[in-house]
Order: sequence, then structure tokens, then C-alpha cells
Amino acid sequence: MSNSIDSDYAIHTSQLVRTYKTQAGDVHALKGIDLEIRTGTWIGVKGKSGSGKTTLLNCVGGLDRATSGEVWCFGKDLQHLNDAQLTEWRRTTVGFAFQSFALMPMLSAYENIELPMRLSGLGKRRQRTMQVLNMVGLAKWMDHRPHEMSGGQQQRVAIARAIANQPKLLIADEPTAELDTNTSREILGLLRRLVAEQNLTLLMSSHDPLALEYADQVLELKDGRIANAVVNAPILASA
Ligand SMILES: Nc1ncnc2c1ncn2[C@@H]1O[C@H](COP(=O)(O)OP(=O)(O)OP(=O)(O)O)[C@@H](O)[C@H]1O
Ligand SMILES: [Mg+2]
Repeated sequence: MSNSIDSDYAIHTSQLVRTYKTQAGDVHALKGIDLEIRTGTWIGVKGKSGSGKTTLLNCVGGLDRATSGEVWCFGKDLQHLNDAQLTEWRRTTVGFAFQSFALMPMLSAYENIELPMRLSGLGKRRQRTMQVLNMVGLAKWMDHRPHEMSGGQQQRVAIARAIANQPKLLIADEPTAELDTNTSREILGLLRRLVAEQNLTLLMSSHDPLALEYADQVLELKDGRIANAVVNAPILASA
């Protein structure tokens, strides 16, 4: 059976179920998610704590595996990739940004961005690192360590690291949760520019109404199911 198809959809899931086995019993984190997301769109995911946002992002980004159902991402059937294939697919296709930035404290901004490329033996690392540092407006801060930078600057470094490998998909799990409103706007503006200029598809979870306004479409999860899907007015998505 072929495990790739041509598709307009960046992401396509069908009856995506994720059940965690715990000592206290099964936790049904996702109960059957059907998604069709077009390339180059920004999808926001909202929902109460525990509704399944992070689980959904991780299953689509290949950090976790669905228990059942289909997950197609850029023409790949993730359910039928073995662990090594999934890791390689993730490395070349997906960038991740998190609420807590997840930077290495002892490394400079430059080194944090370069590290994943170094670990995977990519060439032209200096050129690419400088390019993304410039894209996020931090070239002057390249030698600073995380604790010498503001939260917004640290998130810029994390985003630069996430896009350094030119991923098709950016997964951002509550990227503005630790930032004040003005800094959140800066980061969201940066993400909007990157989605447009790099033709990125962005899947972002958030509790923050401001962040969700920037998305083209917002899905609401309730107890592991999509309870609502709203297309934002273009004026909001492009304001
Ligand atoms: N590794 C795990 N093992 C067991 N249960 C888990 C695991 N990860 C998540 N869960 C459970 O799955 C459900 C969905 O969790 P998830 O982290 O996806 O929620 P969330 O919407 O991202 O919440 P938050 O807004 O707090 O980040 C919750 O009931 C959670 O306790
Ligand atoms: Mg979460």
C-alpha cells in the first residue's frame, strides 16, 4: 500500500483517536477528530484545559501517535511510518514552538538555533542561522543567552529555531501564554509574516482570544471532540 498521496490538504485526519493508558484507567484525550487543513493556513485550536489541544498538536506533528484513525500530513500517512521514518519525517517537515520556549540555557541565541541543524548534520548552518536570526529581528542578540533576553526575544529565538530547517508545518502550543499583550502582538505579527512569506501551515493552540484572532480558522475542542469551527473574518486575520 502506498503511504503518500497528492493532496491540497496539508493535514487530513479521519476519526483520530488518542487514548492514554494510565494506572487509573484509560484517558480518552481525543475521541474522533476529522480535520482538513489547507496548505498555508493558520489554524487556531482553543478549548478548556484538558480538552485535548496539546494531544492533537502532537499527533499531527508526529511527536505522538494516534491510537486509531488516520493522520495524513503533507501526503504522508503518519500511522504507517515506523519510528525511524516518523522521526525523519518530523525532522524535515515540522517545526515546534512551545509556551516555555524550551531553549538551552547555556547556549547563545545563535547556538540554540544552530543546534538542531548541527545534530542532524546539515550544511550551510551559519548562513541559515543568520538568515532566520534576521527574519526574527534578533541578529544583534545572537551572542546573548536566554536569561539575558526578554520573554518575547526568547520566543523569537525559539521560532527562529523552529523554522530554521524550512519546515512546511509549524506547531505552536500556546506560544504567547507567558507573554504580555504587547509582546504577544509582536510574536503574532511575526508568525503572520512567516505564514505568508514562507508558505507555512500553522497549527497553534491558545487560550488567548487575541492570539486566536490572528488565525484563519479556529477550532474549539471540548472533551476530545471538535465542538465548533469558526472561520475568522479576513479583516481580523489580516489586520
Ligand atoms: N501522557 C499522558 N498520559 C496520560 N494522560 C494524558 C497524557 N497527556 C495528556 N493526557 C490527558 O489527556 C487529556 C488531554 O490533555 P491535553 O494535554 O491534550 O489537554 P490541553 O487541551 O492541551 O490542556 P491545557 O490547556 O491544560 O494545555 C487530559 O485529560 C490529560 O490529562
Ligand atoms: Mg496543552
